[in-house]
Amino acid sequence: MIEKVIEGKFLIDGKIIHCCVGIERGIIVDVKKSLDGETRIRFPRGLILPSAVDVHVHLRDPGLTHKEDFSTGTLSAAFGGVSCVIDMPNTKPPTVDKESCKEKISIGERKSYVDFGIYLGVNENNLKNLKDFEDLVTGFKIYLPDFDVTLLGELSKLKVKKVLAFHAEERKCIEKFGKKAENLIEHAKTRASVCEKMAVEKVLKEMEKTDLRIHFCHISSSISLYALSRFKKKVSVGVTPHHLLFKASRSLTPQSYYKVNPPLRTSLDQEALWEALLSGEIDIIESDHAPHTIDEKEVDFSEAPSGVPGVETMYPVMLYVFLMKGYPLERLVSALCSRPARLFGLKKGRIAKGMDADFIVVDLKKMKKIRADRLHYKCGWTPFEGMKGIFPTDLFIRGERIIEDEELIGDRGFGKFVKPREGEESCMEK
Ligand code: NCD
Ligand code: ZN
Ligand code: ZN
Repeated sequence: MIEKVIEGKFLIDGKIIHCCVGIERGIIVDVKKSLDGETRIRFPRGLILPSAVDVHVHLRDPGLTHKEDFSTGTLSAAFGGVSCVIDMPNTKPPTVDKESCKEKISIGERKSYVDFGIYLGVNENNLKNLKDFEDLVTGFKIYLPDFDVTLLGELSKLKVKKVLAFHAEERKCIEKFGKKAENLIEHAKTRASVCEKMAVEKVLKEMEKTDLRIHFCHISSSISLYALSRFKKKVSVGVTPHHLLFKASRSLTPQSYYKVNPPLRTSLDQEALWEALLSGEIDIIESDHAPHTIDEKEVDFSEAPSGVPGVETMYPVMLYVFLMKGYPLERLVSALCSRPARLFGLKKGRIAKGMDADFIVVDLKKMKKIRADRLHYKCGWTPFEGMKGIFPTDLFIRGERIIEDEELIGDRGFGKFVKPREGEESCMEK
C-alpha cells in the first residue's frame, strides 16, 4: 500500500478536481480519483495548490544576520507557502568561492525550514572556473552594477549548464545620471529604465548565439520588455510583486521603505509588467526578498539601503490580486511554482508523478490584512502593510506537514539543499 495519501480539491493543469495524491518517500507516485494509503489526510474544505519556488531571496546569512538569517527567512517562506528558496550571494563573506559555498550550504542544512539552493556570485576571479562550481551550486548570479561588462564576452564562451541570473542595470549608465535621489520619483529617474534596457541588450548581444540559460531578475520597465522581445534567444524573465503592485509616488510612506533596485517606476511600466505576466512573456514571479532593519531604513532617503522584504507575502498577495481581478490561477501557479522549478531543474512546483510532494492548502474565502507583527521576518516591517492576502493554512514539503492549521509543526533543519541532479538540468519552458 502507498505510504501516504492526501485527498482533497487540487488545482491540476488548470482544473480544480477532487482527487487523491499518493506519496512515497516524499515523492508523488500517483494521482487518481481514489487511492488507498497507510496514512490518509483529507482536506474536505480548501484548495490544494503547488507551493512556490522563490528563486530570488537574500537571507543575509552569514554575516548580515541582524537583518535576517536562514531560520527566520525560511520560516517566513514556509508561512508564505514557499517550499524552496534560492539564496543570493551578497552575504558577508560573499558566496564567491568554494569555501563560502560550503559554509552557506552547511548553515542552510542546520537552520532551514524549507528546501533551499544557493547562487554563486560571479566575479572577475571565479569567472574562468565556473565549470568547477556546477556541482556545488544551484545557479550563477551576475550583479551587473558591480560587474565589468567587458567580461561578458568571456562569460559567453563558457559551457555551463546552470542558470545565469542577471541583475540588469548598467553601471556606467547609472553613474551618468549620477545625482543623489531624495525621494522615490528621483530614485526612478537616477536609476532610469534606460539603464536596465541597456544592460539587457548588452547581455543578449553577447549571449544570443550561445546555449547558455539566461534569467533576467526583477525586470521593472516596459522598455526592457520591448528590448527582450527583439531578440530571438529564449531567455526567462522574472518580476516581483512590488514592481507589479507599486509605482514611484509621493504617497508611499515612509519613502525610504519603498526604495529598491531596480526602482519602482510608472503606471505605464506597471501595466506593461502585468500584461507580460498574464501573456507568459514574463515567466516567473520572484520576491527579491531583501530585508533591511527599520533603523537602517529610518535615515535620509539618499542614505537608506535599497531593498524590501517579500518572501512571506508574495504568494498570499498575488493570490488575492489574481482572485479579485479574475485572472487565471493557473497562470499564477505557473509563474510561482512550475516555471521557476523547471528553469532550475528542480522536481518541484507541479502536482504530478515524480515531483516532490510540495503543496499548500488555502481557503480562498479567508482573506487577511497583512500586518508586519503577524509575519516572521526579523526586520519587523513589510511594504505590503494593510494590504490583503490569502495565506496558506497548511504546507507540505516532500510529503511532510510543516504547517498545520496555520501553526508551525516542522523543524528547523528539515530543509534540504537542492541542485539539479545529473541529467535533469534546467530547461526553459514555453
Ligand atoms: C538587494 C539587496 O538588498 O541585497 N537590494 C535591492 O534593492 N533589490 C540587492 C539586489 O537584488 O539588487
Ligand atoms: Zn537585484
Ligand atoms: Zn535581489
